Amino acid sequence: MDFIEFINQRHSTPPKYLVAPAPSIDELTLMINSAESAPDHANLKPWRFLVIDTDQRTALGELFVRALARKEPNTELDLLERERERALRPPMLIAAIASITPNHPKTPEIEQFLTAAAATEHLMLAANRLGFGTIWLTGSRVYDRYVMTGLGLQAHEHLIGLINIGTAAINTPQKQPNRRNVAVEYWQG
Ligand SMILES: Cc1cc2nc3c(=O)[nH]c(=O)nc-3n(C[C@H](O)[C@H](O)[C@H](O)COP(=O)(O)O)c2cc1C
Repeated sequence: MDFIEFINQRHSTPPKYLVAPAPSIDELTLMINSAESAPDHANLKPWRFLVIDTDQRTALGELFVRALARKEPNTELDLLERERERALRPPMLIAAIASITPNHPKTPEIEQFLTAAAATEHLMLAANRLGFGTIWLTGSRVYDRYVMTGLGLQAHEHLIGLINIGTAAINTPQKQPNRRNVAVEYWQG
C-alpha cells in the first residue's frame, strides 16, 4: 500500500477488539527501534518504552485499583473492578514514557514531550504496518504520580500513554473517522 494511503487509513482499534496474538519479540524489537527515527531536538532521546508483560498484569491491576482508591476513597466496587480490567485486557501493553531533561539549554520540556509523542506514534505505525491493531489510552491513572512511581518511573519521567496492541478482531474503524478535508492555509502578513 502506498505510504500516504497507509497513513490516511490509520485508525485505532478499541481494546475490546484487540485479541491474541500480540507481536513477537522480533516484531516488538522492530517497533521499538522504529521510534529511533522520531524528530528529536539535540538528540536527547527523551522517551522509553516499558513493556508490561502478561505475568505482570495482575500487579498492574492492583496498582491501578490502589491509585484510584487513594484518590477517590468512595469509588464503588464495580468501578474499581473496571479499573483492574484495564490492566488485564490487551494482548500487549506498553507504557510510553517521556524522560525529561529539565532546563536543557536548547530543548524546552515541551519539545521533549512532543518528541516522546512522535516516537510513540512511530512505534504504533510500525505495529500497524506489521498488521497489528493499536490504541493510545491515558485517563487520570496515567497522570497519577502514584502509578508512575509504582511502575518505577523517576521524578523526571512522565507516563504519557498506555499503548494497547494486539490483533484486530475487526479491521475497520468502529466510528466514522473524523477526517477533515483541509484546504491549504497561507499567512497573510
Ligand atoms: C495522548 C492521547 C491520549 C488518548 N487517551 C485516550 C483515552 O484515554 N481514551 C480514549 O478513548 N481515547 C484516547 N485517545 C484517543 C484514541 O487513541 C484514538 O486516537 C481516538 O479514539 C480516535 O480514533 P482514531 O485513532 O481511529 O482516529 C488518546 C489519544 C492520544 C493521542
